[in-house]
Amino acid sequence: MKFPYSEKVLEHFRNPRNVGSIENPDGKSTEGSPACGDMVSVYIKVDEDTKKIKDIKFESYGCASNIATGSIITELAKGKTLEEAKNISWKQASDALGGLPKIKTHCSVLAVDGLRAAIANYEEKHGLIKEKIPTTKEIVLKRLKHVMNPLAGLDLVRTNLITGVKVENGTAEVTVNLPEEHQFANNIREEIVEKLESLWDIDEVIVNFSV
Ligand code: FES
Repeated sequence: MKFPYSEKVLEHFRNPRNVGSIENPDGKSTEGSPACGDMVSVYIKVDEDTKKIKDIKFESYGCASNIATGSIITELAKGKTLEEAKNISWKQASDALGGLPKIKTHCSVLAVDGLRAAIANYEEKHGLIKEKIPTTKEIVLKRLKHVMNPLAGLDLVRTNLITGVKVENGTAEVTVNLPEEHQFANNIREEIVEKLESLWDIDEVIVNFSV
């Protein structure tokens, strides 16, 4: 049987470049794949003046293809401006790896989505978002789908831990169905705040625990 992966994929899988996290990143993301449920985190450091990506790292909780694409996109993005890096496509990433099996397309899509989301996070934090859509409950819920429920290994929304969301006058208020003294409560609060505070029209994030 012919092995489905190119030599390049295997090489990047065995020796992935730029693996890990960056302390105090300028932009960061965690994206999940709707196709397989795997996740990837991307961290970037950006030169304020040139808007070039100075450093980039990734952590993959996905398969071999995802690790290999994570590795290649970090190589492709390093040194590029944010605008250039935004245009890196999954096709480019998979071509740079000598191709991926068709069934593995979503794995490279996940890695590229992670890169784009980290750039979007940087732009939000620096007031660079051009299209300023007012934050709604739906937008908040969409973000909360990127916060993991450590008890279940799935996000807070899918595991029904969010029992209330209110957005009013620059304040986002979220209610979590866990006791305040729960071992993961602090962790979850921090992650919720991190995901919501970068929204351009949110000044304050309040997290309540309801049990
Ligand atoms: Fe999930 Fe590849 S199968 S990222």
